[in-house]
Amino acid sequence: MIKKAIIPAAGLGTRFLPATKTVPKEMLTIVDAPIIFYVVEEAVKAGIEDIVLIQGRGKTAIEDFFDLSYELEDKLAKDGKTHLLERLTKIRSMANIISVRQKQPLGLGHAVLCGQSVIGKSPFAVLLGDEIMVSRDGGPNVTEQLSKKFDDVQASVVAVMKVRDEDVSKYGIADVEEKSDSLFKVKGFVEKPKLADAPSRWALPGRYVFSSDIFEELKNTKSGVLGEIQLTDSMNMLAKKQNFYASTFTSDRHDAGDKFGYLKANVELSLRNLELKNEMKNYIQELALRLQQGEFK
Ligand code: G1P
Repeated sequence: MIKKAIIPAAGLGTRFLPATKTVPKEMLTIVDAPIIFYVVEEAVKAGIEDIVLIQGRGKTAIEDFFDLSYELEDKLAKDGKTHLLERLTKIRSMANIISVRQKQPLGLGHAVLCGQSVIGKSPFAVLLGDEIMVSRDGGPNVTEQLSKKFDDVQASVVAVMKVRDEDVSKYGIADVEEKSDSLFKVKGFVEKPKLADAPSRWALPGRYVFSSDIFEELKNTKSGVLGEIQLTDSMNMLAKKQNFYASTFTSDRHDAGDKFGYLKANVELSLRNLELKNEMKNYIQELALRLQQGEFK
């Protein structure tokens, strides 16, 4: 079982300016909790106990969210707001949250490397802090699915999803070899290739389980695309040396660091929220009608 995870959350969130000028993108709200809560929740449901949050300057709100807020909890207790108090207590007790500062924004690969001293020799998961995965049928989440596959193959295994031609250059792309059920053997990876150079349409959605050997590769990875130390380049190097797998998954994925992805995640999760779903369904039906009638041109 994978017990440790790294959640990189140090990015500047430029796709979400001006909101992210003062609020970390991982703290933007989906229904009634920040994006990062859903990512940590996924890790915890997958059996992960120690979570290393990689943060940059101006991101202390993230660690405060998982910390005790004494005055607030005291007030809720005195006011008899037990339900809210229980929710807050649960959040701060979900996992051991270890916060590590990435001092310079040198890239995703560098962010993951910042977690090495906490992870040590254990295999570990990486969950990108702005991607939200929503299981459709309440089945195992993506990290759980990867963790299980890691147990089966005893080698690094990362999630992949098929993307359209026009989206290939936004993602890390896997060069896959053979397929059995949902598992591919991987020959290599390319970060954000041009369509003509892409080895496949199998893209990395931001969920990974690695053997700790990835750290050696990360140490030797030079800056790549966008001048950043790319995790994908280190994965490529590791895949050339040892077995490396990619797995498809069952879940909806929302890139909540992107405006449209963020809005979709809010709509979908409110449709799954007991308090909100009826009102939301009615509202969507009403909107659909107004659209049909020609409004919002
Ligand atoms: C990062 C990774 C990329 C991956 C993507 C998923 O890119 O470098 O390989 O496909 O996340 O969202 P970013 O979105 O940070 O540019």
